[in-house]
Amino acid sequence: MSSPLSATQARKPDGTATARETLTITDNRTGKSYEIPITHGTIRASDLRQVKVDPKEFGLMSYDPAFNNTASCISRVTYIDGDVGILRYRGYPIEDLAEKSTYLETAYLLLNGELPTSAQLKDWTYHVTHHTFIHESIKKFLDGFHYDAHPMGMMISTIAALSTFYHDAKDIFSPESRKKQTYRLIGKMPTIAAFAYRHTLGMPYVYPDNDLSYPGNFLNMLFRTSEAKYRPNPTLERALDILFILHADHEQNCSANTIRSVGSSHVDPYSATAAAIAALYGPLHGGANEEVLRMLMEIGSVQNVPAFIKRVKAGETKLMGFGHRVYKNYDPRARIIKHIAYQVFDLMGKNPLLEIALECERIALEDEYFIKRKLYPNVDFYTGLIYQSMGFPMTMFPVLFAIPRTSGWIAQWEEMLVDPEQKIARPRQIYLGHDTRHYVPMEERG
Ligand code: CMC
Repeated sequence: MSSPLSATQARKPDGTATARETLTITDNRTGKSYEIPITHGTIRASDLRQVKVDPKEFGLMSYDPAFNNTASCISRVTYIDGDVGILRYRGYPIEDLAEKSTYLETAYLLLNGELPTSAQLKDWTYHVTHHTFIHESIKKFLDGFHYDAHPMGMMISTIAALSTFYHDAKDIFSPESRKKQTYRLIGKMPTIAAFAYRHTLGMPYVYPDNDLSYPGNFLNMLFRTSEAKYRPNPTLERALDILFILHADHEQNCSANTIRSVGSSHVDPYSATAAAIAALYGPLHGGANEEVLRMLMEIGSVQNVPAFIKRVKAGETKLMGFGHRVYKNYDPRARIIKHIAYQVFDLMGKNPLLEIALECERIALEDEYFIKRKLYPNVDFYTGLIYQSMGFPMTMFPVLFAIPRTSGWIAQWEEMLVDPEQKIARPRQIYLGHDTRHYVPMEERG
């Protein structure tokens, strides 16, 4: 027996019908068959609900812990083909953007869907630049953190605190309000990050310099000491800008899924972004760059690499900066990053940990364990080495990921908000706990 669902018909290029774009499911419990449409290579999980033994039942669900095979949204922001190592923002290959674009232009592209005209870029840059200052009370707020507080903890709290300053941010269905909060978020992230860094050093905060580029101003707020005017090194400024481009978005990763999920309750964008930063902080996500460096330091020398790889293969530890849920090939970002690493090392001197990283990669790429599991270096494998050479402490590495990812988060958040199919994110569960039991008074408990 077929369901009343109408099946779509696929067409050959000449217009004639081919096989139906449907899936027929037979429920062996009842002998009933159901025909379910396939659209974009996907079935709708809610179409499974008609499959039931008793009409009073809830119906069939799909079980997919960690969303291994579940599309949670329709998106037009970022495309990844993990099997061949392709990454595109709004259709533009990452290699093209890394070579020809700037972070601010790429952020505009992610948020607006198109590359800006010269006037649009000028206007966008003006607004972001003029939202880099933070309220003096935020400085006091930062002062409250302990001297050795992790800057990601400071970022999460301080970005969340922005919602207490900007009440208009609650107006999430106003495009004008969303635009304003976007300027603020993208403008203030580097300022808060730099202030958090200076706080840990006990150094005075450096205010934004509107004459400088987005990455140049960030370097100014981080590293300026007594000079009247900070002039960023152009190689480091461009290297940072490219790293920002590479980190700007990555479709439905853990933190993008977080901002969509938290944002689906219609909370303001500062609270939702704080949640995304928290998701990014974990060592399996954006915290991996910090962990890679700790791992390389622990390995200590090239001679110790084979023994370390042996431990990885025995399941005792992970090779941090390797593996990816989507990439089953070389991460295209890692390839570009390796190239930037050499440019930075030419200027700053080679990072002594580089040889250890290269040996890890060499052995891993030839080893059956890694080949079988398709484990390749990801974006985090080489970034830490660059950041360290540029003078950043390890705890700042995930922050350097969070700053540029803000544009991707906001693009994903906004796409979710205006999508009429999206509702509050609320998965189902398979309950395997106790059936009803009666409260046991304390004196009767075993
Ligand atoms: N070292 C050793 N074994 C690994 C690694 C690794 N880095 N990554 C995956 N594996 C093994 C894993 O143990 C499993 O083996 P088996 O089939 O024998 O159980 C197999 O490879 C498949 O791995 P998985 O854990 O099922 O893959 P996943 O898609 O759930 O996890 C990942 C993806 C990125 C969390 C994982 O590869 C990992 O933990 N990597 C190290 C942390 C890291 O570098 N994270 C940064 C990711 S890229 C940037 C970002 O998204 O922030």
